Amino acid sequence: MPGPANPEEPLLVERHPDRVVATLNRPHKRNAIDQATIDALHLLCDELEETPRTLILVGADGVFAAGADIAELRERRAADALRGINAHAFVRVAELPMPVIAAIDGYALGGGAELAYAADIRIATPSLAIGNPETGLGILAAAGASWRLKEIVGDARAIELLLTGRTVKAEEALRIGLVSAIHDPEELLAAAEAIADRIARNDPAATIATKRVFRAPRDRHPAADLEAQAELFESPEKFRRMTDFLERRDR
Ligand code: COA
Repeated sequence: MPGPANPEEPLLVERHPDRVVATLNRPHKRNAIDQATIDALHLLCDELEETPRTLILVGADGVFAAGADIAELRERRAADALRGINAHAFVRVAELPMPVIAAIDGYALGGGAELAYAADIRIATPSLAIGNPETGLGILAAAGASWRLKEIVGDARAIELLLTGRTVKAEEALRIGLVSAIHDPEELLAAAEAIADRIARNDPAATIATKRVFRAPRDRHPAADLEAQAELFESPEKFRRMTDFLERRDR
């Protein structure tokens, strides 16, 4: 069993049998993502790659994350950029076997937005302010925004957002599909849990296959789909679930 939460930990992790809730926890720095947060995200990825569960990402104190930690960024040099400190961590988050849900209250800026883009499902609150102001700081958004954002909202919107660095508020984010729902802050976690509950009712192997195949490159389709389906067609869980359905009908 996990011990009591340490308020100094940059990522608070609450474990359940079918899901993990991870809270970005540097509220005094608006949950800015520093190296310690990245290290904690890698440890969490080790765990969720080993024992796949749905991940719910949230931020403490009414903010998701106000970006990568600018105090650390300012000191980083070319070699650090090439290491892709945040980029690689967010790729691991995106590639976790089970779904990742970002529940975003308030600011999700820069690296905070990029972490949210790495999630499969994003929901938010009316105070959402999401965007990539990196060019204003003399850098580019290199931890996923330049390729993931266009996959989410399309090329034209993505490039407009990246070139202006403007922040998208809740109503627009919902309209352009950057988030799929808006909930009041006190209901946000429950809404994310309800999505995790819905996922938990499905077969985990089928969920894992769906996520993996969805992310396969275009030229791997339909082979990737058919290979995954071939495996699932032989799984005892498929026979059990389909037999359950048919026998329920017969009753
Ligand atoms: N990196 C490092 N520190 C950050 C940070 C970041 N991305 N975002 C906020 N902080 C720190 C502030 O420096 C301040 O620290 P201090 O109390 O030691 O001075 C503390 O968090 C509170 O921030 P503050 O700006 O006073 O809070 P606010 O509620 O008035 O404003 C924001 C919130 C998010 C609008 C504002 O903090 C901000 O613009 N942050 C940077 C956003 C950004 O450019 N992100 C992209 C980074 S790639």
